[in-house]
Amino acid sequence: MKKLGILTGGADCPGLNSVIRAVVRKGISEGYVVTGIKNGWAGLVDNDMRILDLRATSGILDRGGTILGTSRINPLEDPEQVSKIRENYKRSGIDALIAVGGEETLKIALHLYKQGIIQVVGVPKSIDNALSGTDYAFGFDTAVNVATECIDRLHTTAESHHRIMVIEVMGRYTGWIALQAGIAGGADIIMVPEIPVDMEEVCDSLKARHQRGRSFSILVVAEGTKIEKFPKRGSGEYKERRRYGNVGELVGKIIEEETGFETRVSVLGHIQRGGTPTAYDRILGTRFGIKAVELVKENKLGKMVSLQDNKLHYVDIEEAVKNRKTIDMELYEMATVFFA
Ligand code: F6P
Repeated sequence: MKKLGILTGGADCPGLNSVIRAVVRKGISEGYVVTGIKNGWAGLVDNDMRILDLRATSGILDRGGTILGTSRINPLEDPEQVSKIRENYKRSGIDALIAVGGEETLKIALHLYKQGIIQVVGVPKSIDNALSGTDYAFGFDTAVNVATECIDRLHTTAESHHRIMVIEVMGRYTGWIALQAGIAGGADIIMVPEIPVDMEEVCDSLKARHQRGRSFSILVVAEGTKIEKFPKRGSGEYKERRRYGNVGELVGKIIEEETGFETRVSVLGHIQRGGTPTAYDRILGTRFGIKAVELVKENKLGKMVSLQDNKLHYVDIEEAVKNRKTIDMELYEMATVFFA
């Protein structure tokens, strides 16, 4: 009997369990024994794995996180860990591993595959939606919906108190969550890592908005946003603060000091990653899981499952991890129509 392995690596996100469930169902129906590896690459290093049967994956579709656990370890940094992976993978008898993860996990998978240490198929997971080669990764839709709900809630309190609300969302390198949740939540300004920010311009447009009679504003800021230009008055001091603080806090401080408008900052953080996945992410995770087993069956190794124009495809993992997928500039231009 052939053996399939599955691991979830890197940051968790809603929808991982739907992939695991689909891989187990489809795998068993195709005659595979499916082994679940615990805590990402750490499970292969420590030989921590167990057989997953139908019972082990029943009732998990709507659960956030991953029943397998995850970790952010990078075994490539330690040759001893790599040799443990080689040994444990061989001993497990796994014919092909389905690696579910983002950029880091898939880079590790690719390296081990190229070294002939593992056989692998990748499944794209990224709440930041930053993986190339696929229109969407699962987890992103849930994060956008959670962030949108939070923006809606902050909107009403901003309006009542005539305040500016700065909402910091996840996205270290790409601003997909900020852009989509910002559009859906009616943000007056959206800041993303792809477009360095001129805070003088932001303060001026907020002042103009308030002069037009609006007494509150909503700003959505991706955590990786870079401030390029600071207001003259406190410029040195702001630059100094940038080194320590998170960007939402800094943006809020600058606005309050430069405009005099009362400002509050909310950092949504891991709230965006926890909890139940949206229907979209459950369906996408299910589709990806089934397609991944099909790729293994067809011996299409070193590939990543992908979604293009809502159809399932596959791409080389190498292609997917080469460059990050930055935001859709056309969509950003559309969003600017509603700015301040
Ligand atoms: O990569 C996904 C992500 O959620 C990023 O958006 C965020 O910057 C980071 O992970 C947070 O990492 P951690 O969970 O290790 O704090």
